[in-house]
Amino acid sequence: MSFTVAIDGPAAAGKGTISKAVAAHFGFAHLDTGLLYRATGRRVLAGEDPVAAARDLQPDDLQRDDLRTADVAQAASRVAAIVEVRSALVDFQISFARRAGGAVLDGRDIGTVICPDAEVKLFVTASDEVRAERRYLELSAKNADVTRAQVLADVRERDARDAARDAAPMVAAQDALVLDTSDLSIDAAVARAIAAVEAGSP
Ligand code: CDP
Repeated sequence: MSFTVAIDGPAAAGKGTISKAVAAHFGFAHLDTGLLYRATGRRVLAGEDPVAAARDLQPDDLQRDDLRTADVAQAASRVAAIVEVRSALVDFQISFARRAGGAVLDGRDIGTVICPDAEVKLFVTASDEVRAERRYLELSAKNADVTRAQVLADVRERDARDAARDAAPMVAAQDALVLDTSDLSIDAAVARAIAAVEAGSP
């Protein structure tokens, strides 16, 4: 039987950490759908056409260790506004969501477009400053040469583009539980997400 947890939200809101923890807690599979757009964006930075890159995406493209850079994040957000790119990635996400045994997908349009019938929907957010600080610490830990101001500008630019686009814009589904993690520890945010899944379980 399938059971889908849809976790959406803006850049660096903690979707990845929460999704992984929820998936591990319930024994569900997890798909970070941002990786599909990052992998496509990275191939575009290498000179490919965005639609051709999305249609030809291979499992190896998702394994690369250079997908979490600021350049790739921006490229991902640009290709993510192209309808044909999104269409090329839909079927894979839908079949992942319906796999037996439960699935957690995190992204921007999971609860609205990919899985409008998901059993549980969360929209994870936090203030711009808190999100930028988390991403700054994450990038600096990997020795990336970034400043706090650059990271804040990057997060805001991507959020604005992701929310304003015509194709599957980032927005909380009407039936999503909004989880603001600005003042929550990781453990507290994960505990709330797990409680929401338990409340949504049959
Ligand atoms: O990790 P972070 O929240 O910074 O970003 P991500 O989830 O890896 O997503 C990178 C970019 O991919 C986003 O800025 C969106 O433009 C795009 N994306 C999307 O359009 N739809 C999704 N379901 C997931 C990501």
